[in-house]
Amino acid sequence: MWLYSPTLLVGALVLDRCQACLHEHDFTRSLVKRQNTPLSPLTPDEQVLVDAVSNTTIDQWSYYYTHGYHLAGTNLSMAQWTADRWGENGFDSSVVSYYVFLNYPVNKSLSLTYANGSVFQPSLEEAVLDVDETTSYPNRVPTFHGYSASGSAEAEYVYVGRGQQVDFDRLKELGVPLEGKIALARYGGPFRGLKVKNAQESGMIGAVIFTDTQDDGNVTEANGYAAYPDGPARNPSSVQRGSVQFLSTYPGDPTTPGYPSKEDSPRADRHQVMPRIPSIPISYVDAIPILAALDGYGTDGEAVNRTRWVGALNVSYSTGPAPGAKISMSNLMDDVYTPIWNSIGIINGTNSDETIIIGNHRDAWIVGGAADPNSGSSIMVELSKAFGKLLAQGWKPSRNIVLASWDAEEYGLVGSTEWVEEYIPWLTETAVSYLNIDVGASGPFPYIDATPELHTIATDVMKKVNWMDTNRNMYNVWYEYAGGSIGVLGSGSDYTAFVHNGVGAIDMSSNPGDTDPVYHYHSNFDSYHWMTTYGDPGFLAHKSMTHYLALLAYNLAGPERIQFNLPNWAKQMDTYYDDLMLTINSTSDTLDTSALRSALDEFASSTTQVQALDDQAVAAQDAALTRLVNHKYRDFQRGFVSQGGLPNREFYKHIIFAPGLDTGYAPTTFPGITEAFEAGNLTLAAEYVRKTVDAILVAANILKT
Ligand SMILES: *[C@@H]1O[C@H](CO)[C@@H](O)[C@H](O)[C@H]1NC(C)=O
Ligand SMILES: *[C@@H]1O[C@H](CO)[C@@H](O)[C@H](O)[C@H]1NC(C)=O
Ligand SMILES: *[C@@H]1O[C@H](CO)[C@@H](O)[C@H](O)[C@H]1NC(C)=O
Ligand SMILES: *[C@@H]1O[C@H](CO)[C@@H](O)[C@H](O)[C@H]1NC(C)=O
Ligand SMILES: *[C@@H]1O[C@H](CO)[C@@H](O)[C@H](O)[C@H]1NC(C)=O
Ligand SMILES: *[C@@H]1O[C@H](CO)[C@@H](O)[C@H](O)[C@H]1NC(C)=O
Ligand SMILES: *[C@@H]1O[C@H](CO)[C@@H](O)[C@H](O)[C@H]1NC(C)=O
Ligand SMILES: *[C@@H]1O[C@H](CO)[C@@H](O)[C@H](O)[C@H]1NC(C)=O
Ligand SMILES: *[C@@H]1O[C@H](CO)[C@@H](O)[C@H](O)[C@H]1NC(C)=O
Ligand SMILES: *[C@@H]1O[C@H](CO)[C@@H](O)[C@H](O)[C@H]1NC(C)=O
Repeated sequence: MWLYSPTLLVGALVLDRCQACLHEHDFTRSLVKRQNTPLSPLTPDEQVLVDAVSNTTIDQWSYYYTHGYHLAGTNLSMAQWTADRWGENGFDSSVVSYYVFLNYPVNKSLSLTYANGSVFQPSLEEAVLDVDETTSYPNRVPTFHGYSASGSAEAEYVYVGRGQQVDFDRLKELGVPLEGKIALARYGGPFRGLKVKNAQESGMIGAVIFTDTQDDGNVTEANGYAAYPDGPARNPSSVQRGSVQFLSTYPGDPTTPGYPSKEDSPRADRHQVMPRIPSIPISYVDAIPILAALDGYGTDGEAVNRTRWVGALNVSYSTGPAPGAKISMSNLMDDVYTPIWNSIGIINGTNSDETIIIGNHRDAWIVGGAADPNSGSSIMVELSKAFGKLLAQGWKPSRNIVLASWDAEEYGLVGSTEWVEEYIPWLTETAVSYLNIDVGASGPFPYIDATPELHTIATDVMKKVNWMDTNRNMYNVWYEYAGGSIGVLGSGSDYTAFVHNGVGAIDMSSNPGDTDPVYHYHSNFDSYHWMTTYGDPGFLAHKSMTHYLALLAYNLAGPERIQFNLPNWAKQMDTYYDDLMLTINSTSDTLDTSALRSALDEFASSTTQVQALDDQAVAAQDAALTRLVNHKYRDFQRGFVSQGGLPNREFYKHIIFAPGLDTGYAPTTFPGITEAFEAGNLTLAAEYVRKTVDAILVAANILKT
């Protein structure tokens, strides 16, 4: 996945999206009391699932996935192996391919020439470590940006902070020249592709993006921690690879927006979502001299006064440019149309018109990928083993269960988006929920984002999971870490195409806390050795996450009744409405939202009605009524995507939330209204009030009895 720190994301959400609504959300972990409620009892079927899970086999799956080259579109045998494991456990499994645009690194160069003519030549590659075998593989993946542009640039350069539009606005306000310069940006905050997009739109001709140890919190060498492999701090040479697609415009194959990529598919201009300027990622050690050369030039970092502009490195984070100090860079990519492979495994349910999909991507930026994504992949194989035990006892779920191992997620959610685009008619007819796991384990703290109908079942199931053999239930650990808060889905993993076609979803992970070893996101050091030494020794977080995902899938797919909480949708939308009011009230502009308020009230009343019907079906044990309610639950969310997409990004159809246009990862609620209003386009904002109202009423009508 593309996002590695929910803690930072939560911070980003609160700070960047809604300064004023801090009080709305209780994210303050320190205030949460340590709780120790007992584990909820398991049913006999649930006990079978839990007992089938073993850290010994999870370890074997992890070893397999982390010792072979599996960059997107390169490892068919790994796709087949995955399908074979699921097949052995009773899933009807196969490999399906798409024919997509990708690009692979050929070579690159970067140097800094000082005004006096001296040259600094960064290494651009990560250290080879004796104890970490995959760092030395001859076919290890070089550092690069997926979907980056081929090209070269030579120019003075400017430090642009995290590269959000507000950062560029501030630079323009300060009179810093951008046109014709190269951007030096730090990682963190918005999706990296948007940093490059914003630089390009400011007339800049290249981008260099570095890791800043500020994102590692306290666990740094500067604070006395030894660096990996000798200790938990970041290895100084580590580089974050990753895609520079313009994710918030649309994901998937850049050349087939809105339709599946087959060999003979027509191809659109890929530059709607791909940069024209070259970009290169670097480590923090390589960044220090480049940043230091700007010290004393332009505006000092403190005076720029922007969120997380000044990082933790020993430099002033001045904007520059430094007269005569130039970066020279080149990036050569091999642009290709090539096959990618999704593995798909199916168990048919008794209700053929209801489906639960469970997905994880398989491709990684590195040979390892022990956390991202193959902790999730190992969990999925183990989960298939657990369901195999139930199937062997003659169990059959009420709903179809589909397992998916996506390829090319890392370039832009490509495998999942193309698959959804191909099967959208069937998904619209049958999909009930999509369960996503990506970085299943990179540390000991569970975290979830989910659509509101799933909040209750998602937290109830946590109460059944013995977290990492501690005899504390997962719910208590999660509550302490996440403050009882379930995130809104933005983007950054494979749930995106599902959500924006009206299928509710959950995304789950387990992450490092403030004092845990630093997870080397998209680096060679996200390896089997790191995982077994620091990330999850003994695979205990993997084991608990397998329990969680299996029990959640079982409870969603097994019983005749779909256990959704619809009144929670009304409750959550009320908080989004309050956020919108705060946004509006913080300006001198006005916007009539009374129709939205009425639509939300109408929706709320439809949720109480459907809940009453559900209760009645349970009390009367009325199977026909249960089926009726199930279908309302399955279908209502299609209403939210019924009114066409967001302005200039039609892919994003969910009118209640979407990734922010300038964040890529973090969500914006009522995005059509909020973004138009914030951009000062009140006509467009009013138009989106109408569309949002219409969509909410369509959803309400589906629920109504
Ligand atoms: C694919 O991955 C497997 C498992 O990691 C590995 O053994 C194999 O060598 C890889 N194939 C290629 C072509 O790199
Ligand atoms: C990259 O390879 C191309 C083609 O072989 C060559 O012309 C170019 O000089 C190389 N560039 C770098 C930076 O190594
Ligand atoms: C050139 O300037 C850089 C940066 O100030 C300095 O480190 C280097 O020693 C200088 N080289 C020469 C030859 O003076
Ligand atoms: C991090 O370090 C700061 C300063 O050294 C300290 O005040 C803080 O408590 C530390 N945080 C954690 C979570 O250890
Ligand atoms: C920094 O910006 C904030 C508003 O964003 C302002 O309140 C504060 O005074 C500024 N600080 C300085 C030192 O300019
Ligand atoms: C930070 O850099 C300055 C000079 O650039 C140097 O004098 C100082 O020792 C450095 N501090 C640390 C903690 O490395
Ligand atoms: C599952 O159902 C589909 C569609 O009804 C059918 O084509 C397929 O053969 C079934 N698979 C199995 C294993 O029964
Ligand atoms: C599995 O977990 C146990 C502790 O419950 C541990 O002793 C063992 O080493 C773990 N096995 C593996 C393969 O990590
Ligand atoms: C926004 O302003 C309106 C009108 O002044 C007021 O009624 C409402 O309570 C305010 N809402 C929030 C969330 O501040
Ligand atoms: C507002 O948005 C509409 C639709 O995108 C556009 O046609 C119009 O020019 C925009 N108005 C302003 C003032 O930007």
